[in-house]
Amino acid sequence: MKSPKRYLITSALPYANGPKHIGHLAGAYLPADIYVRYLRAQKRDVVYVCGSDEHGAAITIQAMKEGTTPKAIVDKYHAMLESNMHDLGISFDIYHRTSAPIHHETAQEFFTALNQKGDLQLKETEQYYDEEAKTFLADRYIIGTCPVCSNDNAYGDQCEKCGTSLSPEQLINPRSTLSGNAPSKKTTTHWYLPLDKHEDFLRKWILEDHKSDWKTNVLGQCKGWLDNGLQPRAVTRDLDWGVAVPLPDATGKVLYVWFDAPIGYISATKQWAKDNNRDWKPYWEDKETKLVHFIGKDNIVFHCIIFPVMLQLHGNILPDNVPSNEFMNLEGDKMSTSRGWSIEMEEYINDFVKKENGGDMMVDALRYYLASIAPETKDSEFTWKGFQDALNSELVAVFGNFVNRTFVLMHKLCKGKVPPLHESIADELDKKLLADIQQAKNNIETNIEGYKFRDALFEVIDLARKGNKYMQDKEPWIVAKNVGEDGNPTPEAQQKIDNCLHVCLQLTANLAVLINPFLPFTAKKLCAMMKVVDKMLEWENAGKSTLLSVGYSLRAPELLFRKLEDTEVSEQIEKLKNKSIQLMEATQNNQPIANIETAAPEQKKPVIQFDDFAKVDLKTGTIIAAEKVEKADKLLKLEVDLGVEKRTIVSGIALHFDPSAIIGQKVVVVTNLAPRKMRGIESNGMILMAENADGKLQFVAANEATSNGANVS
Ligand code: 2FM
Ligand code: ZN
Repeated sequence: MKSPKRYLITSALPYANGPKHIGHLAGAYLPADIYVRYLRAQKRDVVYVCGSDEHGAAITIQAMKEGTTPKAIVDKYHAMLESNMHDLGISFDIYHRTSAPIHHETAQEFFTALNQKGDLQLKETEQYYDEEAKTFLADRYIIGTCPVCSNDNAYGDQCEKCGTSLSPEQLINPRSTLSGNAPSKKTTTHWYLPLDKHEDFLRKWILEDHKSDWKTNVLGQCKGWLDNGLQPRAVTRDLDWGVAVPLPDATGKVLYVWFDAPIGYISATKQWAKDNNRDWKPYWEDKETKLVHFIGKDNIVFHCIIFPVMLQLHGNILPDNVPSNEFMNLEGDKMSTSRGWSIEMEEYINDFVKKENGGDMMVDALRYYLASIAPETKDSEFTWKGFQDALNSELVAVFGNFVNRTFVLMHKLCKGKVPPLHESIADELDKKLLADIQQAKNNIETNIEGYKFRDALFEVIDLARKGNKYMQDKEPWIVAKNVGEDGNPTPEAQQKIDNCLHVCLQLTANLAVLINPFLPFTAKKLCAMMKVVDKMLEWENAGKSTLLSVGYSLRAPELLFRKLEDTEVSEQIEKLKNKSIQLMEATQNNQPIANIETAAPEQKKPVIQFDDFAKVDLKTGTIIAAEKVEKADKLLKLEVDLGVEKRTIVSGIALHFDPSAIIGQKVVVVTNLAPRKMRGIESNGMILMAENADGKLQFVAANEATSNGANVS
């Protein structure tokens, strides 16, 4: 197959509405970065673009939660995301943002071009409206029960639990995120992209042209969408935050975030071209460009169906592939920032990278583990123990150990210089290892080009493993015991030692080239140890057995990786559990935004009127039964005696209390909280708890003499 003339690689633009976790990193950023670093090492013309997605309800709702403006939110989180990605070695050519004027112009031009060609339809429809907040309710402004998985808190555009894309009309018991009220309906006008008209094109392009090169999870989702019948999709919204609809009669309307965000890839390319004195057009218009979108599975429909229709109508090239990953779970549960069950990139950087014994080696350690368990074909799972095993038994014990032994022995037995290869005594083991390098290089290429980064990385570590085995078989330290009268190894022994360390050093140089796309900081460190410039990392050098010149003196070995201690593993697990408990109480009640308490403990809640307080029905009770909820580390199912009645209450206190130890505990209960299902159990109330500065929970209790069911006021 002819090589593409140029590559344009994109990673999904993260919403600038909060920190992003390492599951995001593993899904859309790390694989793209590995791919791009590989292409760059091959000296291809490649541009890697990304940026912050700064529009849509994700942003405005976060602004309300934090009591600030959307602009302040995007400025804050754009800076955080840009810096986190940089710290973790994600090597974008540009990290742009959709609030930039060049993006607004590009998105407006795109909309205008489609509208003028008659590719959009103007329709008047009835949409959900919040009478109290005086606003239409689209996307995340409306929540309700997911018709697919019964999640009570599905958004109007998507259920985050099962990943299904939804429209507000599909929600059961819809309610406004703003006021909590049931919405009314009101007429409004919007522009629609008639996806139904493009079904034939999509079927052929996806299910025929790409049936053998797209991943099965991607093809499967696309087929599902196509078989269910495509509907016209609104591409505008009634909002005051976003890209204004560029028409005189469209005041108060903006482009739908999923219309403008993917155009962000184009505006980012334009900005990159401007900054680098290049032409952006061939990257989006010339068919010899290979466009690849790296995304997570919740973005498939937008990148494989909606955006391609837009690109096709606008006269742009289409993606060659959309390698989408499944999700990465964490310690047995779904990763979620809002539930606190996550490791944020920022958190990892603070806990490991910016620590004294951290730095770039801990960036590569994370990159290694995430790439080796990437959810390429099915959901995978991050565990701290798994991370520790990967780091200690693979990076330290296999890769680091091989390099370290090679350098130490070369200094000890070969005067710190690359020894010669004595061809006349080269044996099968030497030849086999050199052939293994070539084979590994070929396998890595095939795997990376087929977006199988896990397999590619396995080949690299396996090659290092072969290096260790080779050294173990050759035992140069034993050979060195064959000494002559001068106390030095005999000439025959020295030749054997030379050959072993020559081969090991050439393998080390190859390992640097091959590991570079995955662990770039390690590759650089290896170059420094070998006193070679980074140019040695070019891919054409992979497989060569002459990378280091004979007689060249090398530096002392440096520590490439450090072990992760058991205490670090348990500290992180403890931290995760505490964080999730804190956040669970805040989200448990699913309050409307107007009432949401801010998560940060130091922030004071706003003053309320007595009437507001009087709405809360607080009663005393006694816990009469307690048991753990299956498959939920944090939850206890409690039976509480409230005098005239007994209630089942699910409480997120399992990590703080043994169920048997709290029978008979006096408690104060919010009794008029709307019922909520957790893990299939309906919870009817909430137990009041107090949290100490050290994160420990205590029951808020009436004294023993107070009878069950007494009003608390
Ligand atoms: O799901 C998300 O986080 C979106 N912000 C991804 C956008 S990708 C692209 F289209 F910009
Ligand atoms: Zn669902």
